[in-house]
Amino acid sequence: MECVRKLTNDLYWVGADDRRLALFENIHPIPRGVSYNSYLLLDEKTVLFDTADWSVCKQFLENVEGVLKGRKLDYLIINHVEPDHAASIEEVLLRHPETTVISNEQAFTLMDQFGYRVEGEKQIVVKEGDTQKFGKHTIAFVAAPMVHWPEAMVSFDLTTGTLFSADAFGSFGALGGRIFNDEVDFDRDWLDDARRYYTNIVGKYGPFVMDLLGKASQLDIKMICPLHGPVWRNNIKYIVDKYIHWATYEPEEKGVLLVYASMYGNTESTASVLAAKLAEKGMTNIAMYDVSKTDISYLISDAFKYSHLVLASVTYNLGIYPKMLNFLEDMKALNLQKRIVGIIENGSWACTVGGLMTEFLENNMKAMTVLQDGVTINSRMTGGQERSMNDLVDGILNSMKEA
Ligand code: FEO
Repeated sequence: MECVRKLTNDLYWVGADDRRLALFENIHPIPRGVSYNSYLLLDEKTVLFDTADWSVCKQFLENVEGVLKGRKLDYLIINHVEPDHAASIEEVLLRHPETTVISNEQAFTLMDQFGYRVEGEKQIVVKEGDTQKFGKHTIAFVAAPMVHWPEAMVSFDLTTGTLFSADAFGSFGALGGRIFNDEVDFDRDWLDDARRYYTNIVGKYGPFVMDLLGKASQLDIKMICPLHGPVWRNNIKYIVDKYIHWATYEPEEKGVLLVYASMYGNTESTASVLAAKLAEKGMTNIAMYDVSKTDISYLISDAFKYSHLVLASVTYNLGIYPKMLNFLEDMKALNLQKRIVGIIENGSWACTVGGLMTEFLENNMKAMTVLQDGVTINSRMTGGQERSMNDLVDGILNSMKEA
C-alpha cells in the first residue's frame, strides 16, 4: 500500500521514514529516526526528484507506483548522489526503462562509481542555469557544490516557486505523517535535530552554504522540499535565518555550553560550581554534558548554538582526556569558530590539560578566544580556588555583555 502526501495539486511526497536505523552514516544516533524524501510531479511529463535509501526502497517504489497509477515515469532528476537518496536509482530504472535521468556531469560519474548504472542515451547532463520544461512546469538547475557533496545541485520550479533543496534545510527525525513545517511545532520538536543534522553533516562547509543562500535569495521561493525532514511552505525566513547563523558560525544564543571530562567526579563537581555561580548571577541558559556519556553529535550541535563554551577536563597521560580531545578535534574538523571559551583544568600531580586545550583552541581553530581567567584544581576544588572561579564567572558574563 502506498503511503504518500499530496503537496500541491500535482506534486506528491513519495518518500519514507526509517525508524530502524540506529546510526545515520553509521555514526550519528537518530533516536527519532529519519525520513528520506522523494517527490513526484505529475505534469504532461512525470518527473521524480531523487530516490530513497535502500532500507525503504520497497515502500518508496510502492509510493511511486501508487501516484503514477499506470503512467510512465518520464524523468528522474538526481540532485544528490549520496546513497541515502540515490541507492534506489537502479530499482526505479529496472521498473521504468523508459525513464531519462537528469543530473550534472560529476553526479553521473559518482553514480557510475557507486554502481547506479544509467545508459548514456538515458542521460541528460545539465549545468548551472539550465532549464527543462515538462509541461506547465519549468525546472531550473542550480549548482550547490559541497552542500553536502561536490556534485550536489538543487532544482527550482520556476512555475510554482518550489525549491528541491537536496540536503539543505534537512533534518534528522521521522515525519510520522506530518510533512509540512506548519503541521509540527518545529521550534519545540524539530529545531534541535535540524541543528544537529546540519552542524554534523554540512557544518564544515559554511562558505558553500552561504553561496547557495546567496543564489536562493535571488529566487522567489514559496516552498522548500528538502531530502530529509519537513517541507517548508511558510515561515521560510525562520529556517533561512537559522542557516545563516550556522553557516557563518555565529551563535544563535547567548549562553554557555559546559562540557566536562571527569574520572571520579571531582572535575564534574567543579563544573557544577561554575554552573551554579553563573545561574546565581542570572545566566541560566546553560547546557551541561559529560563528554564521556554524551554522543559527540549533540555536543557539536550545542557548540554551534551557544556563544560560550567551558571545557573542564582532567589531565590524562600528561595530556588532554581522550574524549575531550576527540570533541576538540571534531569542532576543528567542522570549522567551528568565533566562540569565547573558559577553561577548568584538573591534575593531581602534573596538571597540563588547561595549557594544551588553550593551545589547541588558539592554534588549530579560527577566532576562538580563550578567557584569561581559568580555574586550576589539584584533585578536587577547595575554597582556595573560589576566587579564580569567581573571576571565570565574571569573565564569562562580562564578555557576554560586550558581545
Ligand atoms: Fe542526505 Fe548528503 O545525503
